[in-house]
Amino acid sequence: MKPAGLKTRIFLDGGDPDETKQAIDLLGFLDGQTTNPTLISKNPEIRKHLDRGARFNEKEILAFYLDVVKKISTMIPQGSVSVEVYADLSTPADRMLAQGKEMFGWIPNAHIKFPTSKEGLKAAEQAIKERLRVNMTLCFSQEQAAAVYGATRGAKKGEVFVSPFIGRLDDRGENGMDLIANILKMYGKGDGHVEVLTASVRTLDHLLCAIKLGSDIITAPFTILKEWGEKGLPMPKDDYVYDRGKLTAIPYQDIDLSKKWQEYDIFHDLTVKGMERFSADWNALIK
Ligand code: G3P
Repeated sequence: MKPAGLKTRIFLDGGDPDETKQAIDLLGFLDGQTTNPTLISKNPEIRKHLDRGARFNEKEILAFYLDVVKKISTMIPQGSVSVEVYADLSTPADRMLAQGKEMFGWIPNAHIKFPTSKEGLKAAEQAIKERLRVNMTLCFSQEQAAAVYGATRGAKKGEVFVSPFIGRLDDRGENGMDLIANILKMYGKGDGHVEVLTASVRTLDHLLCAIKLGSDIITAPFTILKEWGEKGLPMPKDDYVYDRGKLTAIPYQDIDLSKKWQEYDIFHDLTVKGMERFSADWNALIK
């Protein structure tokens, strides 16, 4: 059962429908799921296929992704399921958009994941005009989140998520949780059309801190949801303080949300690395 007072929606981050079922059984609820190329490449069926030395062609791997997403969607029909387009560093916006439109038709509750890069933002801007729902992934800075806000202006609440990847910032010594706090504070001055989806969650403390900060959504791997469930779905207490240890603080920037998205400095090296990794994991599945 959902803990009383929990306003944050809880999503599973994974590419295996069996985990979705287990998460629902364990928690008694699940508000949605996020998938990505790396997570799909870790699906046990895919691993079995690869262990036999087999590979997929593009059509087969997309059919597999569709099947996984459909199974997940059926288990959480009231929730949201994020489906990610293939995007390497040379994929233009129109190709991302074309994939996004196709994937949006796969299930009734899809959010389409585009990278928070120049081409990804272009694709998202058009996608919103065409009434798709989007989840802007690989966000690592407040300026990128401001650009997501600008590119999707006019969307209704629920149509746009931004996914800051906190664990990957922690990995290089920066306090990822600060980015969540900073984006929430900045969006507090806006119209509320973009929801913050805390992603790249590695610990139960990340989950508790994101709840405490008031993140709209958190997506967490099954291992973390399992730990949370087994501990009885604890909520952060009133005096909860996140221990950032040796991580460096990320300072808040006073950013004007009324600018055009193209005016923000959206470059982040971790977005580039993230796109390289997602596309490499996907390409490794294909003959
Ligand atoms: O939700 C994003 C997530 O799948 C990335 O997590 O652990 O690879 O940084 P991670």
